[in-house]
Amino acid sequence: MKLTVVGGGYVGLTTGVCFAHLGHEVMVVEKIPQKVELLRAGRSPIYEPGLEELMHESLSSNRLKFTTNLKEGLEFSDVIFICVGTPQRPDGSADLSQVEEVARETAKLMTSYKLLIEKSTVPVNTHQLIKKTVQRYIKSPDIPYDVASNPEFLREGSAIEDFLKPDRIVVGVESERAKKIFEELYKDFNCPIIFTDPATAELIKHASNSFLAMKISFINMVADLCEKTGADIKLVADGMGYDKRIGRDFLNAGIGYGGSCFPKDVKAFIRIAQDYGLDFGLLREVDRINQERPIRFVEKVKRVLWSVKDKKLAVWGLAFKPNTDDIREAPSIKIVDMLLREGAKLSLYDPKAMENFKLLFPEGKGISYAKDPYSAVESAEGLLILTEWQEFKRADLGRVKGLMALPLIVDGRNVYEPEEVRALGFEYYPVGR
Ligand code: UDX
Repeated sequence: MKLTVVGGGYVGLTTGVCFAHLGHEVMVVEKIPQKVELLRAGRSPIYEPGLEELMHESLSSNRLKFTTNLKEGLEFSDVIFICVGTPQRPDGSADLSQVEEVARETAKLMTSYKLLIEKSTVPVNTHQLIKKTVQRYIKSPDIPYDVASNPEFLREGSAIEDFLKPDRIVVGVESERAKKIFEELYKDFNCPIIFTDPATAELIKHASNSFLAMKISFINMVADLCEKTGADIKLVADGMGYDKRIGRDFLNAGIGYGGSCFPKDVKAFIRIAQDYGLDFGLLREVDRINQERPIRFVEKVKRVLWSVKDKKLAVWGLAFKPNTDDIREAPSIKIVDMLLREGAKLSLYDPKAMENFKLLFPEGKGISYAKDPYSAVESAEGLLILTEWQEFKRADLGRVKGLMALPLIVDGRNVYEPEEVRALGFEYYPVGR
């Protein structure tokens, strides 16, 4: 099939590259010219395992094209995936101006059937706004079109795998014609395909992300209780997780959820409910608990070290999760900022996210960046772990201990087993155990 993907961010790029990999002819529209240049040269502007390899394959077989020209993209095919940004407004609601633009421009140029598909996360009933926009700008009311919702559930760091092997595919459609297109598109996928109306599909996405965020805030509160009572959060999570109704996934306690989705989607869902006259207080609490996690972590560091002023502290991990260079809404940002205000001298290391972090926290004024985890800990009086990269799990802790001025670890991600680290002679402060 010929497919157009508007938006070259995480979702758009993965969608375009994966559909091309599956044999479709894909054009990705990305408005930033420098990004398009990079993409045409086979280089990904984001770090995502496996993405560049698949890009090379499809670029060389000419199944994947990039353009800055929205009109060219919209004329390229009849099936248009809308993967543009839906940034958060100050009141928590989503700014949908980019979605509106795609709907409007498509309507203006279409002369025959088009299927407009929302893949970006949008508030329930956005499809109605898209339809209204198309009706307003379309050349003739006789030209047929459909609007569908096909939310994407991929995670950063495992985007390709998640896209190609999803747990389920959700498709909200209103016509047989649109349904048939999706059946053809996803015929080789080995997972349940749930056909719904568009509003239901839109809601499934926000409800899923908010539910997962709720699991994380829940377990983080239980972790606090474990710290007070001497219980072990990992065993609590295991004990809960074996219950199929609960499940073990997303019960890892830590320093809170970050990234481009959960913080924004929870706030947006609260706002959506509000717009319909409902107070989703449960989610307000999920959000509040999460916002406090970095503060609780810094309090713990201060409790352990008494004062951090002028102390050299190493920080391992800046990305909001492993296997990505993304630092959007990463808890590390708040934590580093608070520690700097307390007068700490920080030596930061992350395998992929340092360049992005430098844009927010340039070198100097209490901040330095290390070339590897070991140089970060040299003569440090504490090591703080903020992202659970494999590299840290495998680190030579004997060497780390030898390099540190004081062998002390405050681990925000429960990377190690407490007995093992303590047996090596570290003071070790994990989360909730
Ligand atoms: C999320 C959803 O998982 C995905 O389905 C959706 O499409 C986009 O949003 P992503 O933000 O890429 O994906 O990462 P995810 O793996 O879900 O992690 C989000 C945050 O939650 C990270 O900061 C992570 O560290 C944190 N987290 C996750 C926990 O603190 N504990 C957990 O048990 C799981």
